[in-house]
Amino acid sequence: MSDAAKSSEVPPGKPAIKMLMMPRDTNVHGTIFGGAILSHVDQAGAVHARRHGCDRVVTVAVDRVEFTLPVYVGDVLCLHCRTLRVGRTSLTVEVDVWADRFSPPYETIRVTEAQVTYVYVDEDGRPKPVPRPEP
Ligand SMILES: CC(C)(COP(=O)(O)OP(=O)(O)OC[C@H]1O[C@@H](n2cnc3c(N)ncnc32)[C@H](O)[C@@H]1OP(=O)(O)O)[C@@H](O)C(=O)NCCC(=O)NCCS
Repeated sequence: MSDAAKSSEVPPGKPAIKMLMMPRDTNVHGTIFGGAILSHVDQAGAVHARRHGCDRVVTVAVDRVEFTLPVYVGDVLCLHCRTLRVGRTSLTVEVDVWADRFSPPYETIRVTEAQVTYVYVDEDGRPKPVPRPEP
């Protein structure tokens, strides 16, 4: 992880979701499996998409993901989201994952970063326009 990432501060505002890491999600090394973290990333971005009025989205692409530090059992993950781009029927969300460490030195540190693109769809799974805010 870069020094810039390490020294940056937890984003303001509430995380989209928070999650306690349990032993069931460990890999063969005993740390948390990257696929489990990705699942939470995907869910957090989808929750964030609701802020744009998109109540039904599907994930079309994970454009970038970087696991910068391991996640341990007992860590509480806080997934903070930011809209990077709003297209006609899609939006791209940056998801920053911070861990509240359960063990010394009990720090809060960024562990994963990702960019995920969602498409707003109707009941038949067809893309529809992302709602625009009233002027
Ligand atoms: C997502 C899906 C509905 C898009 O259908 P489609 O017929 O390709 O639709 P379009 O070509 O009109 O693209 C829709 C939007 O997705 C964007 N898009 C399509 N493929 C993309 C990709 N690989 N990366 C980023 N954006 C992409 C398009 O740019 C467009 O955005 P815009 O309207 O903002 O410009 C379809 O591919 C699908 O159902 N995929 C499976 C989704 C899924 O099951 N995800 C896992 C579980 S949630």
